[in-house]
Amino acid sequence: MGTFRFASSSRRSLAISLFCAVLVFLVGGFGDIFAEEPAPVVKVLVTYHSRSGNTERMAEAVVEGAKSVVGTEVLLKRVGQVTAEELFSADAVVVGSPVYWSNMSGEVKTFFDNWQFKFGVFPEFKMKNKVGAAFATGGQLSSGKEVTMLTILAAMLGNQMIVVSGGGAFGASATTEGDSPGIDKKELADARALGQRVAEVARLVRGHSAR
Ligand SMILES: Cc1cc2nc3c(=O)[nH]c(=O)nc-3n(C[C@H](O)[C@H](O)[C@H](O)COP(=O)(O)O)c2cc1C
Repeated sequence: MGTFRFASSSRRSLAISLFCAVLVFLVGGFGDIFAEEPAPVVKVLVTYHSRSGNTERMAEAVVEGAKSVVGTEVLLKRVGQVTAEELFSADAVVVGSPVYWSNMSGEVKTFFDNWQFKFGVFPEFKMKNKVGAAFATGGQLSSGKEVTMLTILAAMLGNQMIVVSGGGAFGASATTEGDSPGIDKKELADARALGQRVAEVARLVRGHSAR
């Protein structure tokens, strides 16, 4: 009887040890098979010109929207500070400008001109198939925001980029003077929607699913 009890308790401890070993194997090693793959990183560059802060506020909201898409790395920079490496390593570029005389500001135009003068995009079309989008702020309701976004998109199209909208038909925009000065909640939401769409499309273009 004593021998039987010994044999039975030793079998129980063997079974417990085996169970623990299987558990450790499943959780520690085999479990990795079921672990979700980290999402591949897609890089979004958000760049802007701003003197009195309105376009900068929109740029920050675009960044928030892009970051809401898993696996997105976002860089926020003023147009004059973007390096060739930052431009060419981006999968998507979102450019924001204040409306100056119903068009993009001189700083933003100079940024595009420098794609050739400083960064040498031609003749290889180094920006080809990157995703592009635009945002703008203007003092008046109807005084050039859409033209500003369209001229930004035109510069991108000339570089064979894939342009997308979001927030509004041509990108996100805000009216900064008049009855409600500054940027309101709806305009910030539009800017976030633009950032999110850009990140989603950049993932699709790179062959990753958007989550
Ligand atoms: C030189 C200059 C020209 C401007 N021209 C226009 C214009 O044509 N239409 C418009 O709606 N706002 C115009 N504005 C107003 C700015 O677009 C507006 O205040 C903008 O939100 C400023 O952006 P920021 O705060 O990012 O500098 C002009 C402002 C300046 C300084």
